[in-house]
Amino acid sequence: MTNRDGNLTSLWQDKARDFTSTLLPTERHYDVAIAGGGITGITTALLLQQSGKSCIVFESRNLCFGTTGGTTAHLNTFLDTPYPKLIKNFGKDAARTVARATREAIILVTELTSTLNIDCGFRETNGYIIAQTEEEVEELQSIHDACLDLGVDVAFISSLPTQIPARRILMLRNQAAINPIEYVHGLAQAFERAGGVVMQNCHVEDVDPGDKVRIETSQGTFYARSLVYATHIPPGINLLHLRCVPYRSYALAIRLKSNDYPEGLLYDMKDPYHYYRTQEIDGINYLIVGGEDHKTGSKSETDSSFRSLEDHVREHFDVKEITHYWSSQFFESVDGLPYIGTLPGHTDNILVATGYGGNGITHSQIAALTLRARLMTGEERYEGIFKPGRIKPVAGLPKFVQHNAGVAKQLLRKMVGLDELNGLDRLRPGEGAIVRLHDEKIAVCRDNDGMLHAVHPTCTHMGCTVVWNSAEQTWDCPCHGARYSMEGKVVNGPADKDLEQIILGEPVKGS
Ligand code: FES
Repeated sequence: MTNRDGNLTSLWQDKARDFTSTLLPTERHYDVAIAGGGITGITTALLLQQSGKSCIVFESRNLCFGTTGGTTAHLNTFLDTPYPKLIKNFGKDAARTVARATREAIILVTELTSTLNIDCGFRETNGYIIAQTEEEVEELQSIHDACLDLGVDVAFISSLPTQIPARRILMLRNQAAINPIEYVHGLAQAFERAGGVVMQNCHVEDVDPGDKVRIETSQGTFYARSLVYATHIPPGINLLHLRCVPYRSYALAIRLKSNDYPEGLLYDMKDPYHYYRTQEIDGINYLIVGGEDHKTGSKSETDSSFRSLEDHVREHFDVKEITHYWSSQFFESVDGLPYIGTLPGHTDNILVATGYGGNGITHSQIAALTLRARLMTGEERYEGIFKPGRIKPVAGLPKFVQHNAGVAKQLLRKMVGLDELNGLDRLRPGEGAIVRLHDEKIAVCRDNDGMLHAVHPTCTHMGCTVVWNSAEQTWDCPCHGARYSMEGKVVNGPADKDLEQIILGEPVKGS
């Protein structure tokens, strides 16, 4: 089993072994350094190394520790931001470019798995969007029309390859699915064979930009002509933190009594929507179901999200056993497209890829293609539509304002609620709360062995108050999605400093 950024174990993580790096760095100077060993970082590194650049990847923990190890790994030619909305926000030409980019993402995975012979359960299959109400039927019609207009291969069909009730079904041809960890490990091996270096347990501590970027890591100083942040969200404080909203999504891996596993990738049209697919691992089929998304930190009793998802699944499938429960994080951009290119406020040789929404695998491959073009030829692939510095349509702004208002309200509620939590005795194993102790706010949780852990609840990124996530047993920040272990260690950026630990039993100093 390999490690991931939470208490729960994903199906992929459970079945994978750790990647072992075979090449040690023989030098300190590279063309491109990549921070982050998830699917974006490793795919980008491989494409660049194959194109003649010398690359090094720094990963704070192990490959796929972050969201890559927790995704449900759908590859789609349609996105969470539907094409009618993209046409409205960006125009038809830009939406057509996005559609082309999604197709090229699937082609890239198809080619890499084939040419590198990666055994990652890659499967090309159809996708199905399911309308269950009259309103959804109407919306589906507009998605269908927009897809046809943009050259996305879709058709209405009359029956689904499963028993989920449907009024209308839109089929999307040539979608795909993979086991994300096996895919990344296969790419990483190819990267090393091509001469690239993967450094795990190597944290980027400081970056000094310039023609040669100086990168201080926990394993020494390195230099590169360019640096790519493939860390899901860039560290530090950046404009992109104000343009990305963190969400949690929940997933189950399920064995069915009937062995009647649905073929294809399935999506209903609820808000948040449910998504379903089948994956075979070691000769065993699993139905993977996801959904119940919510803003990070907007909910503390996250176990209830699993209960709702489980109830939903049992309505439609003959569940024999739920083998895995896990959740993961994604960042939604304000206008529905990812940010890929120069990190705002930085020189052209500091790059980033973030804001993938619920289409992380597809966007990771678009990012790798975009970044390769930028770093090899200076070309803005896809007409620069994914550039982080793009002028956004106004459509995204109200949503962002709403998010911030929601965060403020949530924080206020936490403050009001403090008086109710003036003791630690009511905390049961696996629970956490913000309480007052010696007139100070502290974040306290009790682990499964009954031991209390306490930290200052002020997020080290920009000072918001963290919220307990009962399912993953982490402290999550509602503002920009930083997450911390129960001992206060950073497990997800953008924060790069741990929460300050408090020794219980001694006077608590002010935060
Ligand atoms: Fe930005 Fe916590 S992640 S304040």
